[in-house]
Formats: sequence, C-alpha cells, structure tokens
Amino acid sequence: MAIQRILVADDDESIRWVLSKALKKQGLNVDLAENGSQARNLARKRRYDLAILDIKMPGVHGLDLLKQFRADYPDTLIIIMTAEATMEHAVSAMKNGAYDYLTKPFDLTALDAIILKAEKAAELSGRIDHLKEELQEHYSFGRSIIGNSQPMQEIYKILGRVAGSDVTILVTGESGTGKELIARAIHINSQRLGSPFIALNCAAIPRELLETELFGHERGAFTGATERKTGKFEQADGGTLFLDEIGDMPLELQAKLLRVLQEKEITRTGGNQTLRVDVRIVAASNQNLASLVKEKRFREDLYYRLNVVPIKLPSLRERRDDIPVLTNFFLQKSKQDLDIEDKECNAETLDLFRSHGWPGNVRELENVIKRAALLSPNQVLTPADFPELLGVEIIQRQGDSLESLVAQKLENSLARINLQEMNNLYEMVLHQVERPLINIVLKKTRGNQIKTAEILGINRNTLRKKIKTLEIEVNRGS
Ligand SMILES: Nc1ncnc2c1ncn2[C@@H]1O[C@H](COP(=O)(O)OP(=O)(O)OP(=O)(O)O)[C@@H](O)[C@H]1O
Ligand SMILES: [Mg+2]
Repeated sequence: MAIQRILVADDDESIRWVLSKALKKQGLNVDLAENGSQARNLARKRRYDLAILDIKMPGVHGLDLLKQFRADYPDTLIIIMTAEATMEHAVSAMKNGAYDYLTKPFDLTALDAIILKAEKAAELSGRIDHLKEELQEHYSFGRSIIGNSQPMQEIYKILGRVAGSDVTILVTGESGTGKELIARAIHINSQRLGSPFIALNCAAIPRELLETELFGHERGAFTGATERKTGKFEQADGGTLFLDEIGDMPLELQAKLLRVLQEKEITRTGGNQTLRVDVRIVAASNQNLASLVKEKRFREDLYYRLNVVPIKLPSLRERRDDIPVLTNFFLQKSKQDLDIEDKECNAETLDLFRSHGWPGNVRELENVIKRAALLSPNQVLTPADFPELLGVEIIQRQGDSLESLVAQKLENSLARINLQEMNNLYEMVLHQVERPLINIVLKKTRGNQIKTAEILGINRNTLRKKIKTLEIEVNRGS
C-alpha cells in the first residue's frame, strides 16, 4: 500500500497552490479544501492515504479535525501544519496521533522527506497487516490445533466466542494436552495480536524470584539489583500474559496478583510509582485448582477471578478419533523438522496408538512419532518401531510377564544369600519393588504427589509415609 491520494486543507490559497503543484509533480492525486468542513466532506466521500491539515483555519480547528480523522479514518496518516513553531502545538498534534508536523514557512524538501518516510511506514503497516492475516489464518482454530473430534469441536466453539474479548481464561488439562498451544491461539485470534504474548511458567521459577519476574524491580530494590528490571506484566502491556502452572504460585504472591488484576496497576519491587497495565490473562494448570482451593493451597477469590471462562482440554484418551489426523500431522512435521523422507504408519500401528493410554497426551504422541521417524530405516512404520509403547502393552495384556521377570530375578538373588540369617525378607523385597515404582510415577508427574497417589491408587497420606520410610527424594517440576 503506497501513498496515492492526498488531502490538503489550508485556508491560505498560496499554500494550497504550492503543495498541490509539488505533490502532483510526484504523480500523486491531490484534493484541496479551504477549511475544515470542506475537508470533512471530502473525507466522507473517498479514502485518503495522507491528509495535510493546517492547524489554524476558520471554523473547525485543525486539532479537532485531527482527532476526528484519527477516530473515523484511522488508516489515514496525518501531517499537521502550524505557522508558529511552538512546542505546544507540535506536542498536542503528536499526542493526538498526527504522523508528523511541519512549521510554516517550510521547504518543499522537508515535505518530500516526510512523505517518503510516510510511504515507507504505510508500506510496512500494510506488510504487518498482511502478516497478521497470514498468522491468523495459520493459527485459526482447527488448523494448527489438530483434531475434529466432538470434544475438540466444543473447545473451538468456546475459543471462537471468547478470543475477541478480554475475558480471563483458565485452561486446564493433563500434561501435554495443548494448554500453551491454546493460549497462543487465543492471543493470535484476538485484537491483541501485534502486541506481545508473554509466557511465565510459575513452576519453573524459584519462589523468591517469581515476584520480581512478574512485577519487575527498581534499581537498588535489594542487594544485587544493580539495574531496573521490567516484569512480565509490563512486557505484556497491550497484549496477553500467559501464567502457566498457576497452581504452583505461592499464596502470598497470589494475593498480590489478585490485587493487580483488580486494580490493573502494578508497582515494581522497591518502587513507589504505580504503572497502569492493560493485559489479558490466560492462566493454565494441570492440577485441579478447585481441590487446591479446598486444601487452602490456592486462594478462592483468585480462583474465581481467573476462572471466568474455563476451558478444559480433553486428554488424548478422550479423543482417540483424532489419533490418525494427529499422527499424520506429526509425521509431516517430523519430515519438515528433521529433514527426512516421507514416512507413514501402517494400520496395526494406528491400532496400537488407539489402544495405548497416552499419559503424556499429545506431547507423548508427538515424541514417539518423531523418534521412530528418525530412527527407523523403514518407510512404513510398524508397531516394532515403537518399542516404548509395546513394553507397556505387554504388562497390560499379559499380566504375568512382569511377574515372571521378577520371579526369575528373585530366585537368582535369593540363591546367593543364606536365608537362615534373614528376619525381614518380606519387607526388604517389597521395598525394592515399591521404591522404583513410586520413583517412576513421581518422575512422570514431575513430583506431583497428589497425581502420583491417584495413579498408584493409594491414599495420599500413605504415599507420604512411603516416601519417608523409603527415603525417596522428590524433585518437584523436574
Ligand atoms: N491439538 C493439537 N494439535 C497439534 N499439536 C498439538 C495439539 N495439542 C498439543 N500439541 C502439541 O503437543 C505439544 C504439547 O503441547 P503444550 O505444550 O501446549 O501442552 P501443555 O498442556 O502446555 O503441556 P504441559 O502441561 O506439560 O505444559 C506441543 O508440541 C504442541 O504443539
Ligand atoms: Mg505447558
């Protein structure tokens, strides 16, 4: 989009004449207005790429005209002309959205320079609009978010309804179900596209640092604060802030977050100035926040403040119909990312995928496909290319295979010790099974004990006792 049509409004005839001559010489279309109301009438009839408005005209004042043009024709760039070179005029013109200003008398080369700059800006903003459209097209729900199953259709409906507004959204779902993907899609399909999308994982940052990460700090706020730091809230101003794993936020900080959400103002640590921020919040959690509220580990008021629109993503088990399309999508993606030849999965493999439990959901599917696509020499992938899934299937299908493995090991080990000297053999052996089992599940849930107890099917207190007596080390979030 280049600059083609220009409106010039000035009550001084000689100025109109000079400008029109100079602009026409550059091949531009020029319309002339003698005063503000003529300018208004012309603008109503056709679209101008650029309007050059005198600030002092009889009737409508140039600044009022500027405000009106900015409101009614936001695509039209505006240059203000003033006779007095006062700061005041220049400042208020720029504040009200003028693109630039000229002080009279002006040199035509100054005008040329401004127009050239405006051309470039117009071109750039055209390119940005185009990029935005492309991004939105690419990220439109159901495109990069793969899946047409009934549960996903429900998700798309909610997304379509809420993306354009500023409501706070709480995305929940098991690990790997696509919470971050959804958060990004919400941002991209909102008016906030073009402003930043900032993500903060509350579980990945040490508690002590989380507050300054969110709100920033002033220079000298504490020992080591040698510079001012802007927080994620400030960085996300005008855009979207994605608060991932919000269930891991410490209670004191939850109180502060709630205040910020209510007042839409932040204060950097060690500062006393409040800053207004305009941020849309999308929060996510793979823990059940409602039960955290019951356990008093999550503030009830914050929960309600965040949970304006809940989006609960289905696990992959709940949308097995999407497995074939997801499989194709990830095969294509692997081909692109890893630069390998076309691969496909045969029917038995898809059956295997359909029967697998997918505790790691879409991420797990993506990873096993990527791995097999890279490692297998075959063009058509078969179940043998997915040993990690087969192992689990063996335990599930032939209940005795783990047992026979253990029996063999036990026999070997016990053959080498003198049983007469033992008095707690039962406990010793059980511990050796319990410890790895609990460790494996803890690792899978990233140290989440509630989840681990659920998966093991034991009481949470029992798990806690076991962790203690078995001296198991819990690494949260790793
Ligand atoms: N519906 C989907 N279509 C295509 N890709 C998906 C879909 N859902 C998830 N993915 C992919 O799976 C991976 C995991 O998704 P994402 O990181 O959004 O999950 P998450 O719910 O945030 O997981 P976690 O709780 O572990 O942080 C990403 O690579 C993402 O692109
Ligand atoms: Mg995530």
